[in-house]
Amino acid sequence: MKKIICALLILSMVFCGAFANGKRDSKVKVGVSMPTKDLQRWNQDGDYMKAGLEKAGYTVDLQYAANDINTQVSQLENMITSGCKALVIAAIDGSSLSNVLATAKKKNVKVIAYDRLIMDTDAVSYYATFDNYKVGTLQGDYLVEKLGLKNRSASDPVYMEFFTGDPGDNNINFFFGGAMDVLKPYLDKGVIKCLSGQTAKAQAATLEWSTARAQDRMENLITSNKYGPKGQKLDAVYCSNDSTAQGVTQALLSAGYTAANFPVITGQDCDITSVKNMIKGTQSMSVFKDTRTLAAQVVKMVEAIAAGKEVPVNDTSTYNNNVKVVPSFLCEPVFGDVNNYKALLIDTGYYKESELK
Ligand code: BGC
Repeated sequence: MKKIICALLILSMVFCGAFANGKRDSKVKVGVSMPTKDLQRWNQDGDYMKAGLEKAGYTVDLQYAANDINTQVSQLENMITSGCKALVIAAIDGSSLSNVLATAKKKNVKVIAYDRLIMDTDAVSYYATFDNYKVGTLQGDYLVEKLGLKNRSASDPVYMEFFTGDPGDNNINFFFGGAMDVLKPYLDKGVIKCLSGQTAKAQAATLEWSTARAQDRMENLITSNKYGPKGQKLDAVYCSNDSTAQGVTQALLSAGYTAANFPVITGQDCDITSVKNMIKGTQSMSVFKDTRTLAAQVVKMVEAIAAGKEVPVNDTSTYNNNVKVVPSFLCEPVFGDVNNYKALLIDTGYYKESELK
């Protein structure tokens, strides 16, 4: 027992000592593992994390894994071998990192789950994300309001289809779950009709959050249910994020819809393409999750861990990864649409007006 306590003490001294208060060794390395460069937001997350950590005096190893689980695992192995003292990880598949993170734990490398919870491991110390359930309820509430669902009955229904993201991303339980908590009563009453019947999470899932896959599925739904401006009425498509919304928008444009008769489409991220679509009238709303805020929060977490101080969290009950409840910091998601995008995105310097042209 004494030996174990000694070993633990030495390990924690190695980690904390490397960052000793005030006199930080500038060679202390932090690994930042991002899922893919394909989606705009992860590029921003990676850039802000790198800049923030470097400003705080750390060396950063930033890697993107091209949405390939094995690539992410081997990038993490390399980060551990090359001496990273902490890992910040946005997992491609939340349940595929148990082995590599067991190695991290053995070497006393601290792990922070970034945006997506890492499942099935006790090696993750903290989680920083947005209030993902609120993202879902913002989307659901918007549909209720926009479609006037409170004043409708089963004899005056709306027609809707559903798209969520990758089944390996724990966030979809919160996005889709939050939206469905709002919408299910209307489905049950027949006020919302989903002609495909695909209202279960697994049926609405989109592998890798892929725009092309969402487009394919929407094209199939259009064909099989005869949706179209001159065909079967389609009032709305629930989409958990912008990359899926963009695929759905493409399919609807090909089916002949125009801004004048476009179904209501939800999204999330305020991705540039989607903001342009909102301006054009081919996407209705999005949810702005300021990646600057999230990255800054994670830098604070790394600093607190390093200094042996209390790590800032504001939620200690929501995010159970099947092994433990991971102490989390949830940032605030904000509703965005064509009416407030300027204040939200341009006035705050997130985008330049010219990027949205
Ligand atoms: C993120 C979303 C993002 C999606 C696809 C989710 O885990 O929370 O912001 O749109 O992944 O990358």
